[in-house]
This record gives sequence, structure tokens and C-alpha cells, in this order.
Amino acid sequence: MDFEKIVQERYATKLFDGRKIPEGKISKLFEVIRNAASSFNIQPWKIIVVKNQELKERLQPATWNQQQIPTCSHLLVFCADTDIAGNIDRLEKLMVENGADKESIKGYIGMMKGFEKNLSEEQKLSWSQRQTFLALGNALNGAKSLGFDSCPMEGFDPKEYTKILGLPGNLVPTALCPIGYASDKPNPKLRFPKDEVFV
Ligand SMILES: Cc1cc2nc3c(=O)[nH]c(=O)nc-3n(C[C@H](O)[C@H](O)[C@H](O)COP(=O)(O)O)c2cc1C
Repeated sequence: MDFEKIVQERYATKLFDGRKIPEGKISKLFEVIRNAASSFNIQPWKIIVVKNQELKERLQPATWNQQQIPTCSHLLVFCADTDIAGNIDRLEKLMVENGADKESIKGYIGMMKGFEKNLSEEQKLSWSQRQTFLALGNALNGAKSLGFDSCPMEGFDPKEYTKILGLPGNLVPTALCPIGYASDKPNPKLRFPKDEVFV
């Protein structure tokens, strides 16, 4: 399917049919998500993958009781990782392992560290959440490209998710993406006209 068609056909699915997506396709989707762009390539996210039915059912009340949660195949919980300094260290290690010379990347690493130092805790959260939404975008279109459906979701209680999933303080649940096979039908796309959007 070409990209334009994927974008046209993707829609926020309200109900899935409970079928499981084959692991091979899940693995392809993870690649699409993993390759999302992020500022400085810091990739400040972790995606918690919930497959267990009992756990999905425990999460449903913390998700405004929305039906996507128990009926999806996999629930992806997109968490912003506010440990930006930690991720800069990980990135430096990865760059060196991939052939970069530690001395020659010193300036780049120093610039990222300087950027991080100037952020308040609130700004760190907001910044990492913005990056995380790019990964979410890849998940939505990626799912459709691989032949299944998804729904972006903010209608949930992040504090309850943190509790139920036992997340560390640096990981902040930011958006959900249940994926599976739709058992509802899309509504026609309703969007503001081009001349109001592009000015
Ligand atoms: C960040 C975000 C949060 C959303 N939260 C929910 C949600 O909690 N439940 C839901 O059913 N749809 C949710 N939606 C889906 C939107 O309502 C939907 O994308 C929008 O109406 C456009 O429809 P379409 O995606 O089918 O084209 C969310 C969408 C986004 C981008």
C-alpha cells in the first residue's frame, strides 16, 4: 500500500476483534517505531508492551473503560523517558560502538549535555513527550501498512498506569496505542479544508 493510502485508511479504531497479531508482524512494527526521528536522536522513550489479557483488563478502568483495551491484540504504552542525561550517555556508547571516535564526538555530546542541563524537570518531561508522539505517529501508520489497526489514546490515567505497571519515576505514560484487527467501521475523514490549514 502506498503511503497516501495508508494515511487515508488509518483510523482510530474503537473496537478490535480480539485476534492476535502474528509476532513476525509485531516485530516489523517495532522496527518502524524504533526508527522514528527524535531531536538529537536521543530517543527519550520506552514502550511497554502489554499482551496479557488479565493485565489489559486491569488497565481498562484506568482508561475510561474504553473497549479498545481488552479487545486489542497488544497494548503499547508509550512512555516518555525523562532521564535525558542517561539517554545521552547511552547514545554516546552506541555511537562509539558503531565506529565513532570518542574524541571527535566530544563536542556533539557536550552540546547535548549543555542542552539537558538547561532544562527544568517540567521542560524535560514536555520535551521527551513531544519526541514520544513522533514514535506514536510511526506506530499508527506502521500498523496500517502491516495490515492491522490501531488507536491513539490519551484518555487514560497516567498515575494509575504507573502504579499498575510498576514503572520507575523516569518513565511517564504519555499515550496509548492498542493494536489489533478492527471490528468496527471507520467514519469518513473529517478534516479542516486545505486552505485553512496551509496559509
Ligand atoms: C493524542 C490523541 C489522543 C486520543 N485519544 C483517544 C482516546 O482516548 N480514545 C479514542 O477513542 N480516540 C482517541 N483519539 C482518536 C481521535 O479522536 C481521532 O484520531 C480523531 O477523531 C480523528 O479520527 P481518525 O484518527 O479516525 O482519522 C486520540 C487521538 C490522538 C491523536
